[in-house]
Amino acid sequence: MAFSISTPTAYFSCFSLRNEISLSSSPFKPLKLPPYWPWEKVKIGPLSVSPMGFGTWAWGNQLLWGYQESMDSELQQTFNLAVENGINLFDTADSYGTGRLNGQSEKLLGKFIREFQGQKQVQDDIVIATKFAAYPWRLTPRQFVNACKASLDRIQIEQIGIGQLHWSTANYAPLQELALWGGLVAMYEKGLVQAVGVSNYGPKQLVKIYDYLKARGVPLCSAQVQFSLLSTGQDQLEIKNICDSLGIRLIAYSPLGLGMLTGKYSSSELPRGPRALLFRQILPGLEPLLRSLREIAQRRLKTVPQVAINWCICKGTIPIPGAKTVKQAEENLGALGWRLSSDELLQLENAARESPQRMIQNIFQTRWICHSVQYFVLETGMTCLISKFSSTHLN
Ligand SMILES: NC(=O)c1ccc[n+]([C@@H]2O[C@H](COP(=O)([O-])OP(=O)(O)OC[C@H]3O[C@@H](n4cnc5c(N)ncnc54)[C@H](OP(=O)(O)O)[C@@H]3O)[C@@H](O)[C@H]2O)c1
Repeated sequence: MAFSISTPTAYFSCFSLRNEISLSSSPFKPLKLPPYWPWEKVKIGPLSVSPMGFGTWAWGNQLLWGYQESMDSELQQTFNLAVENGINLFDTADSYGTGRLNGQSEKLLGKFIREFQGQKQVQDDIVIATKFAAYPWRLTPRQFVNACKASLDRIQIEQIGIGQLHWSTANYAPLQELALWGGLVAMYEKGLVQAVGVSNYGPKQLVKIYDYLKARGVPLCSAQVQFSLLSTGQDQLEIKNICDSLGIRLIAYSPLGLGMLTGKYSSSELPRGPRALLFRQILPGLEPLLRSLREIAQRRLKTVPQVAINWCICKGTIPIPGAKTVKQAEENLGALGWRLSSDELLQLENAARESPQRMIQNIFQTRWICHSVQYFVLETGMTCLISKFSSTHLN
């Protein structure tokens, strides 16, 4: 008779051998281990979320990610697979979706939640973390509250899980920054969001907004930053320390370095579109890191993306890898349920240090000034500019 441990909803990821607990000669269908155990859920303020979320920037973005509406049915299956495997955190933004597709990511998420066929409880547990863009025309707290209501309309839910400020304007429009903060307080007090968070805030600005919100009786629950083996600079370390000391959860965006840490791209195998410009500069120097990722993946019977995402989890963050296909989602789910050893973490970090070019930081991240911009502001679909990036420590 087969001996196995089961979970009612868990789908078994074929990439994670850990889960394959069954005897091959058994007449019974092998039962499956869940990608993670219930006690591994992570608290973000009042919310309880999976140790990894899914990012949905690509869902609606034609410019950078080559989205087409014909992909929607696969995206829906991708969403269903994630939810069936216990993923309940989905990151989106009101600026996601290019051109006439602006807001598409939020709309799709809402649709997929409504049409989800599984248990009602599972559906109810889904946490949407959306981000509100600091567009130059959003100048008052009320305009941010209206932005939040517009997101609720697009997603067609009554309350957003985490309402996040997409970026800080402290470096170029300090007065607008006050409107952002006031807006965040107002949407929380009106019950439009369950928790509030920030994104692309540097260390000093993070402490400032934390103090401001605390004085207004609003807990700051999460801080989202670019965090991966390609993005582990001084800022990331400082932000992580601040988060740990203040009880803020760090959400790691672009944990796969926009795809560079999946191992499928090389100087001769570049993605279509503007990513190729960035990859062409960074990939040649990534060989030591990619070699280490491959080596560990092989030894552990995992895949390169699984190791890269697992590294983020081991560093105490909640990674939100983007996935466009069922296959990618399936593979990324295999990043859960196991942990790299401390030696492996060190090996990867040493290899990452050997990479001459690191990931470009988001230009909106406070503490950085772009002298010549090398990051896309592609989320809005308005700007796409790459040249050379350098930084100055600001605040
Ligand atoms: N707060 C912010 O300012 C900010 C900025 C960026 C991102 N984010 C959030 O973070 C999320 C994730 O970041 P990201 O989408 O920028 O980049 P990422 O997670 O580093 O990379 C995602 C991309 O890698 C490829 N990929 C994913 N899994 C794969 C697999 N198993 N095998 C092969 N390829 C795979 C896919 O693109 P291809 O197949 O096309 O290569 C996918 O779209 C976003 O969706 C968004 O929610 C937030």
